[in-house]
Amino acid sequence: MRHCILADIHANFEALKAVLFDAQSESVDSYICLGDLVGYGGTPDKTIDLLQRIEPSLVVCGNHDRTMVDLQYRNPRGWHLHQQLEKFSLLWTHNQISLETRRYLQHLPEGPQQLVGLDAVQFVHGSPKRIDDYVLNQADAKRYLRNSLQWIFFFAHTHIAAIHSTDRKMPLIYPEPDFTYPLTRKNRYLINPGAVGQPRDLDPRASYAIFDQQESTVRIKRVDYNIKAAQDRIRAVELPKWHADRLAVGR
Ligand SMILES: [Fe+2]
Repeated sequence: MRHCILADIHANFEALKAVLFDAQSESVDSYICLGDLVGYGGTPDKTIDLLQRIEPSLVVCGNHDRTMVDLQYRNPRGWHLHQQLEKFSLLWTHNQISLETRRYLQHLPEGPQQLVGLDAVQFVHGSPKRIDDYVLNQADAKRYLRNSLQWIFFFAHTHIAAIHSTDRKMPLIYPEPDFTYPLTRKNRYLINPGAVGQPRDLDPRASYAIFDQQESTVRIKRVDYNIKAAQDRIRAVELPKWHADRLAVGR
């Protein structure tokens, strides 16, 4: 089985479309999404509709998705963790999305989640413990890997592709696109596929991962997409200008 791992799509329809086109050419067998379907971008309904059409094996809830549900039920948890511009786009999204999208977001399960047939592999948005924790550096990763009973956690939220592991020689790799990294059973891993809809590693191309279960490998792919169309949409609906500008520079 070859799994396409997607994360942090953030209502960027153009980026998701390009990534799915690329993933099809890789003949992947399943799609797994690590959350943050909405927020920042200007095309929430269309993006979620496209995601549903590929029938993912699993979609976990991201912190932006959870805030959508919280806004509906006037639940304040997590709201204070969003920055001012994020709050603006979350409120806009809340007022904009269809009933169908709202229902879809409501039913997303929070991580850690796992899939039948995929032993000791779990999928989360933030960290293995919390939806809005960042795993940014080796110290963060060590905390979760040290006593973990899992082989791999796939995580998101930082918008930066990374492979953290218990391998002492290489505890952190920022993976080269298209390079196939072997995953051994003697190490444990925390792997981030990077962001589809808003990369933050100064490479503006959409990012995703292919996890080959039989071969025990992971490969990061970067995909060009129509950034201008995504920016035009954000500007047209008068979302914060920065959310459009940052797409061109990948930050
Ligand atoms: Fe995100």
